[in-house]
Amino acid sequence: MTPLPRYLLPDTAATAADGGLMVGGCRLTDLASEFGTPLFVYDEQHIRHRARAAVSAFGDGNVIYAAKAFLCKAMARLAHEEGLRLDVASGGEMEVALAAGVPPSKLVFHGNNKSVSELAVALERGVGRIVVDSFDEIDRIEALVGKGHDPAPVLLRITPGVEAHTHEFIATGQEDTKFGFAISSGAADEAVKHVLESGAFALHGLHAHIGSQVFRIESFAEAGRVIARFAGPYSLPELVLGGGLGVAYVEGERSPALSEWASAIGQATIDLVGTRIAVEPGRALVASAAITLYTVGTIKDLPGVRTYVAVDGGMSDNPRPVLYGSGYETFLPRAVGAERTREIRLVGKHCESGDLLVRTGLVPPDLKVGDVIATPVTGAYGHSMGSNYNKILRPPVVFVADGRARLVVRRETLDDLLATDIG
Ligand code: LLP
Repeated sequence: MTPLPRYLLPDTAATAADGGLMVGGCRLTDLASEFGTPLFVYDEQHIRHRARAAVSAFGDGNVIYAAKAFLCKAMARLAHEEGLRLDVASGGEMEVALAAGVPPSKLVFHGNNKSVSELAVALERGVGRIVVDSFDEIDRIEALVGKGHDPAPVLLRITPGVEAHTHEFIATGQEDTKFGFAISSGAADEAVKHVLESGAFALHGLHAHIGSQVFRIESFAEAGRVIARFAGPYSLPELVLGGGLGVAYVEGERSPALSEWASAIGQATIDLVGTRIAVEPGRALVASAAITLYTVGTIKDLPGVRTYVAVDGGMSDNPRPVLYGSGYETFLPRAVGAERTREIRLVGKHCESGDLLVRTGLVPPDLKVGDVIATPVTGAYGHSMGSNYNKILRPPVVFVADGRARLVVRRETLDDLLATDIG
């Protein structure tokens, strides 16, 4: 029954004299009036701080931002300005990063089923690293290089066989996975040997990623030790140990710091002398940088059951609660420090009962229709996993810093919605 914990808010969050929440020097309720709701508000300084903390923990050139967490041109540019490389997981993500002016050499291209045309574009543009995921991909790259490309600069994705202690859908390090070459089956050794002997590749190193939203630092250390043992005899110059560091979403959760992650990984790979160790965080850099603003449209009090508070967005701007059962907090930006004594369920406007944003949320008792209501920690895998379900228009994204709000992704229009519908 307490106010929202401050550590779930972006770094520059501050309370105005009247109790309203400011982020980046901008009042959230003013942003809602200016840009409408739903609205993603990102604290630019927060992302820069996290990026700098990551670079100082892992070293220059050793932090690769996992763009799948949140990508638009402004975000790609910001990551590049802060000295990060970018992990892009599809031709589309690659295109956005390139359109933002990120040099191709700074891109690390991922995917368990890259198409021939995606690979051809990556080779033509001169993408820095391609993370090879299967024997079929090896064949595809060999065929492309055979047609006249330079040898492909690659990492090989290795499956360490380590359980990551996270939701089944976002765990990737275990044996039963669609990703990478398993050490245990001999596939990893076979792939490394093949790629070293083939003239089609420049093998720079290995890659592993055990999963996402991982709180247990020991899982990273364990994977690091397994990969380091495997990599040792090959003496390759690079090792990328993926992303996955968890973040706190709700009261009571505490995430490990980037520096703890770095020291665990450093310890685990200490024997790999001369190998540069890089990581690929997504969520840890952007999740708590953003807040989503909604407007309360309907409050339905079901006596003896619960109170449903319905807003103007829902599973189309944040599918995580529906997909993974993820928990979020909610609060009123007009009164961020208010005691939250009323239990509600925050739901969206989609045509299904599963469309919930906060299963059990707390709000101040004076919540009313027309209020701007917010969910914090929505900076990762919200906007990027958004959809047009029910033909709902995707919300805009605003970056705030130093009292200025910059619209970086505009709200979708009905014309956008019909643009591809040519029937
Ligand atoms: N590197 C690779 C190869 C990845 O597959 C991922 C995430 C990352 C890095 C970044 O992981 P992060 O640091 O953001 O945890 N949609 C899910 C998360 C899926 C993660 C997919 N891969 C969610 O909303 O929880």
